[in-house]
Amino acid sequence: MKQKTVFCCSDCGFETPNWGGRCPSCGAWNTLVEVKTEKTSSRRSSDYKPRAAAKSSKLLSEIGGEEELRFKTDIPEFDRVLGGGAVKGSVILVGGAPGIGKSTLLLQMCGCVSRYNSVLYVSGEESERQLKMRADRLGIDGSNISIYTGTDVDRIISTFDEVSPEIVVIDSIQTVYDSEVSSAAGSPAQIRESTLKLIRYSKDNSVTIFIVGHITKEGTIAGPKILEHMVDCVLYFEGERNTSFRILRAVKNRFGSTNEIGVFEMLEKGLESVENPSEMLLSGRPADSSGTCVACIVEGTRPIMAEIQALVSKAPYNPSRRMNGIDYNRASMLIAVLDKRGNLPVSGCDVYINVIGGLSLDDPAADLSTVLAIASSYKDEPVDSTLAALGEVGLSGEIRNISNLDQRLGEIRRLGFKKCIIPKHSKINVSAFEGLEIVRAGTLREALRAASL
Ligand code: TYD
Ligand code: MG
Repeated sequence: MKQKTVFCCSDCGFETPNWGGRCPSCGAWNTLVEVKTEKTSSRRSSDYKPRAAAKSSKLLSEIGGEEELRFKTDIPEFDRVLGGGAVKGSVILVGGAPGIGKSTLLLQMCGCVSRYNSVLYVSGEESERQLKMRADRLGIDGSNISIYTGTDVDRIISTFDEVSPEIVVIDSIQTVYDSEVSSAAGSPAQIRESTLKLIRYSKDNSVTIFIVGHITKEGTIAGPKILEHMVDCVLYFEGERNTSFRILRAVKNRFGSTNEIGVFEMLEKGLESVENPSEMLLSGRPADSSGTCVACIVEGTRPIMAEIQALVSKAPYNPSRRMNGIDYNRASMLIAVLDKRGNLPVSGCDVYINVIGGLSLDDPAADLSTVLAIASSYKDEPVDSTLAALGEVGLSGEIRNISNLDQRLGEIRRLGFKKCIIPKHSKINVSAFEGLEIVRAGTLREALRAASL
């Protein structure tokens, strides 16, 4: 068989016989890597011929709808992200940083679904013994879960034929290789060809496949970009590794909305669904201590309470800043606005900001709480613990309108807060939030006054 050298773009998977600094297809720089492939006639994925007899087109209305297409994974937060359970015969890609809990989540899911379905867990990363130890620790009954530890995609597929599973987990796609492609496991060409084979099997046999994908340092799933186009759902599992809070986010879902997030906590006995994340995040809040204020951010369609803490101290030398969970530039801007418009000389101080629970704030509605937490620490006066604040802070110190205000206020009231500062020109029906005192503020100074700072 003749060996051929091609250059393959690690971003889009484009192949070209000539090396160049820039991918001719997607335009990315320095992404072409040398790949040795064997020249064969029948192995290209583009030559794919369906196994069934050639089909002609049909009228949409003639196609029989299947009643119960979905099955529940029985992990409430996972089902929520999938849009009410996984669709039979779909292919779901789960990406996330190493150690975040992808294998744990999927093994727990196997434990739940294996009560009613036959399940196959394919691992190229852990040995049988390691999987067994983990399953024991998670309290999973393995009587209906088959384990296969191999990485050759054709062998994996022949195991499918032996076991005839309804649900399969592939952990991870970067370890799977196709012996017909001669580049190394984990290369874009390997990932693409192996995934295509798995997808083909899934569609032909109506098997649901969950595929674990590693992510690159840029935070996207490693492999050709087309990987995300090939599968039905793409989920990202996120969180700070040293906190127990985890968020599962859908970035693509052919069978549901991508607005949902699932919240989990990593405990000794694995991942636990958190149906009330706000309560968890606010538990353990210090009473009467300065430098803390609460906001309500919206993640997907869910309002979540976020506690923001600040520590401000006089800087003997150059002021230093550390931000955890909030964008450094945004926080620097808020510090400057507080200095200039709020008349608090915080620019010359050391400022440390931390968002509790490993949440990351990219919702501008949290601006006002951040500013209040900084002011509270500077003055060493606590913000009332039953007060929350919502609003985007502009450069001239104005408090600007934010989205989803009703939803946020609903959550704030549900958690027993007594008072909330909101932007002056918000349109809301105050009577709908009985028991919650709503104070409008148009400028930073008005907001500071409303918080007695
Ligand atoms: P893992 O699922 O192996 O991560 P991934 O597959 O995404 O690389 O999770 C590993 C981490 O989870 C590990 O650092 C320990 C932690 N963990 C727990 O805290 N509790 C548990 O019950 C388990 C199984 C793991
Ligand atoms: Mg793993």
